[in-house]
Amino acid sequence: EVWNPNGKYRVVSTKPMPGTRWINLLIEQDCRVEICTEKKTILSVEDILALIGDKCDGVIGQLTEDWGEVLFSALSRAGGKAFSNMAVGYNNVDVNAANKYGVAVGNTPGVLTETTAELAASLSLAAARRIVEADEFMRAGRYDGWLPNLFVGNLLKGQTVGVIGAGRIGSAYARMMVEGFKMNLIYFDLYQSTRLEKFVTAYGEFLKANGEAPVTWRRASSMDEVLREADVISLHPVLDKTTFHLVNKESLKAMKKDAILINCSRGPVIDEAALVDHLRDNPMFRVGLDVFEDEPYMKPGLADMKNAIIVPHIASASKWTREGMATLAALNVLGKIKGYPVWSDPNR
Ligand code: DGY
Repeated sequence: EVWNPNGKYRVVSTKPMPGTRWINLLIEQDCRVEICTEKKTILSVEDILALIGDKCDGVIGQLTEDWGEVLFSALSRAGGKAFSNMAVGYNNVDVNAANKYGVAVGNTPGVLTETTAELAASLSLAAARRIVEADEFMRAGRYDGWLPNLFVGNLLKGQTVGVIGAGRIGSAYARMMVEGFKMNLIYFDLYQSTRLEKFVTAYGEFLKANGEAPVTWRRASSMDEVLREADVISLHPVLDKTTFHLVNKESLKAMKKDAILINCSRGPVIDEAALVDHLRDNPMFRVGLDVFEDEPYMKPGLADMKNAIIVPHIASASKWTREGMATLAALNVLGKIKGYPVWSDPNR
């Protein structure tokens, strides 16, 4: 699909993206916009090389694509100056290779914070109250009357939520669970982020001033403390060498037998095969997963686990957010082409 065929700058989007604002922004700045409408979901390096062609000023790409040496050198040869990943995570992008070939890289932080945190919260609630199992039970025509023991789950109020990685999304999730459900909080973060601390301190004052029961909160000095103490644990680290299989056989053992584990970050943060074994051996343990170790595949057995809720990497999938991500992705590419700062540059 081609917009503004006579535009001076050729910008390629490897996928159609929501809304038209991003297209209009590019057109207004004299870009010819080419959108790949190829039906297959994951484009190979060869597919993308063909899209880049001989002349290409910038590319908007997706987290399913492998942006390394081959693509950045081709983009640079085609005169390309910018690549924007339509995602906040950029573990699919070799930033060093981009730097080497003089291609600026952008990502799309900020606009997906609340949407992603809301999905993590939804999974936490769905797991605590066994909503998916209950829905399946109804649809199977098995409901034959109210029973005191039917789908009894956990009350979140007064339980402890554990957050691993208190960046934008982890902090937003923690706020939702503390403020919305009056959970106590324990969190672990490698970086000295103070955003969560400021919130919990102010919220504590608010509860006190209103004579409401306090919630407790603590910054843990190790991840293990969070794993041992929390009833619901949500993972929000970036994926890199240090966080690969952060949750493994040992860490799963350290958690409470009836804990709930949520992952809306990146699949390889959890050793998924170990998780399947753990779910099988501990029927009271529950997970809510938006991401998988080897997407789009799941490790054998995961889909059979009644104590797992699995959704297809949709944490940022609200209309507002996806349109915002597309807009930021376009702004990143435009910034470099037109010579103003790339809106979001992970190098900065
Ligand atoms: C991201 O942005 O990194 C998410 O995984 C998709 O929105």
